[in-house]
Amino acid sequence: MHWWQSGVIYQIYPRSFQDTNGDGVGDLKGIAARLPYLVELGVDAIWLSPIFVSPMADFGYDIADYTGIDPLFGTLDDFDALLGRAHALGLKVLLDFVPNHTSNRHPWFAESRVSRQSAKREWYIWRNGASEGGPPNNWLSEFGGSAWEYDAASDQYFYHAFLREQPDLNWRNPAVRAAMHDVMRFWLDRGVDGFRVDVIWHLIKDEAFRDNPPNPDFSDGEPAYRALLPLYSTDRPEVHEVVRELRAVIDEFPDRVLIGEVYLPVEKLAAYYGDNLTGAHLPFNFALIETPWRADAIASLIDRYENSLPPGAWPNWVLGNHDRPRLASRIGAEQARVAAMLLLTLPGTPFLYYGDELGMTQAAIPPGRIRDPWGINVPGLGRDGCRTPMPWAASALAGFSTAEPWLPLADDSGPCNVESAGADPASLLNLYRKLLALRRAHPALAEGSYRPVAQSGNVLAYERVLASERLLMALNFGSKTENTDAISSTCRGTWLLSSAVDRPGGPAAGPLVLRPHEGVIISLG
Ligand code: GLC
Repeated sequence: MHWWQSGVIYQIYPRSFQDTNGDGVGDLKGIAARLPYLVELGVDAIWLSPIFVSPMADFGYDIADYTGIDPLFGTLDDFDALLGRAHALGLKVLLDFVPNHTSNRHPWFAESRVSRQSAKREWYIWRNGASEGGPPNNWLSEFGGSAWEYDAASDQYFYHAFLREQPDLNWRNPAVRAAMHDVMRFWLDRGVDGFRVDVIWHLIKDEAFRDNPPNPDFSDGEPAYRALLPLYSTDRPEVHEVVRELRAVIDEFPDRVLIGEVYLPVEKLAAYYGDNLTGAHLPFNFALIETPWRADAIASLIDRYENSLPPGAWPNWVLGNHDRPRLASRIGAEQARVAAMLLLTLPGTPFLYYGDELGMTQAAIPPGRIRDPWGINVPGLGRDGCRTPMPWAASALAGFSTAEPWLPLADDSGPCNVESAGADPASLLNLYRKLLALRRAHPALAEGSYRPVAQSGNVLAYERVLASERLLMALNFGSKTENTDAISSTCRGTWLLSSAVDRPGGPAAGPLVLRPHEGVIISLG
C-alpha cells in the first residue's frame, strides 16, 4: 500500500491559508506555521495550488517561471524550509503542475511571439485565420469568448483554452515536453512528493483543428462555453502518450505520485490510468461534486465508478476545490457531517479542501471585490466565494492577517473558526478529527474492500472489509428518522462513531435507527 493510497490529501489555496508578512495574502511561512494544525487534524499530505512566479491573471495558474517562487508567497528558501518541516512532521507535499499553458509573460511566449520565424514559434499553438476571416475555428475559451487571440504583428492567432493571458503550449512539440519534464525533475529533486497536474485532459488538441460540434443539451442561460461539445479541443486519444511520459518522469523517483485534473464522466477516467496503469496514479474523480446529494444517486455513482475502474486502479474522491462552490453551501451544514463520513470511508484516496473541515460556506463577494477573472468575464461564475481566507480565530481578521485580506472573510467567520470549533466537541472539525483518527486505527477504512449493503430511501449503507475486520457505514441523507430494517438484521457489533455527538458508543444490536442527518460506523462481529 502506497502512502497516496491510504493517506488523505488536503488542498491548500496558498493565498488564503495564513499571511505572515501583513500584505493580506497568505504565504509559505504561513503554511509552515500552520502545519501542526494539519498534523492534529490527521491528514497525510498537502497539495499547494500554484506558488510559482506569476502575474496572477488567474491567481497563479498563469506561470511566468516554473522553477521560481512568486515573491508574494516567499522565496525558494522558504519553500525548502516548508518542505523540510512538513517531512519532519510526516506530511507529504504535492505541488500544482500547470503544463497546458504558461503566462503570456513567460519568456518562452515572448520569444514565440516575436515572429513566425522565432525559434520558439512552435512551442505555442499559432494558426492562420479562417479563409473567410475571423479565428481559425469555433473553439471557445472556458472563461468566455473565442479561444483564439489575434496577434497583429505576425497576422496569426494563438490558442488559449482559458484566459488570453494563458496561451496554450504545443505538447505535440518534443522540445516542450522535454522542457516541462525538466521542470518536474527540478521539484522532484528538491524532494516534493508529486504533482497535481492542471487540466491534464486538455494537453493535446486535434491535429486538424476541426470545429467543435454544437451541444444538443445546451440551454439558454448556461455559460457560453457549454454551447459546443469540446470534442476536438480536449480528451484527444494522443493525450495518453503525454500522460504516460509524465508518469515515466515521476517513476524516475521513488514513491512519488501523479494526480491528474480531469473533468469527465467517471467512465472516461479509466483511460487516464493508462494502459497497464502506466498513466496517472489518480485521475481526479469529481463526480461527488456534480451528483445530486441523494442516497440513490450516490449509490449508483459508487457503483458506476467501481465498475469502470481498470483492474488494480486506485479510486479517489473529491468533495470540493478552489473551482467549485463550497460544500456546506451546496448541501447544508447538517449534510456536511454526512459528507465527511462518506468521503473518509469510501474506498479510495480522499481529497479535502481547506476550510471544508470547518464547514466554511460560499462567501457572497461584493461586486467591487470580485477578483476571479472568470467572475469578471462571466458574471455569476466567479470562484472567489470558495477561496476566502481560512478563519483561525474569533479575533479581528480571523487570525489570517493583520491587513485587510485580498478577499473578504466569509460571513460565517465569526463562530466558524479553528479556535472555537476546536473547543466544541460537537463541531464538524472535531468530527473530521475523529474520522481521521479512526482511519488510522482501523486500516479497513483505508485499505479494505468495499461491499454495498443497502440503499433504500434516504439511507445508504456499505461495508469495508479487511482480514477479520468488517466495518459497516450507514448514512442518512434525509431529515427524517430512518428505521433501517434492511441493515438491522446484520447489525451486531460495536458502535465506533456517530456523526451525532450525544450517541453513546458501546455494543450495537439491531434495530438500527438512524437519526435525521446521521451517519454511523459500526464494527461488526
Ligand atoms: C484548472 C484550475 C483552475 C484554473 C484552470 C486554468 O481548472 O483548477 O483554477 O483556472 O485550470 O489553469
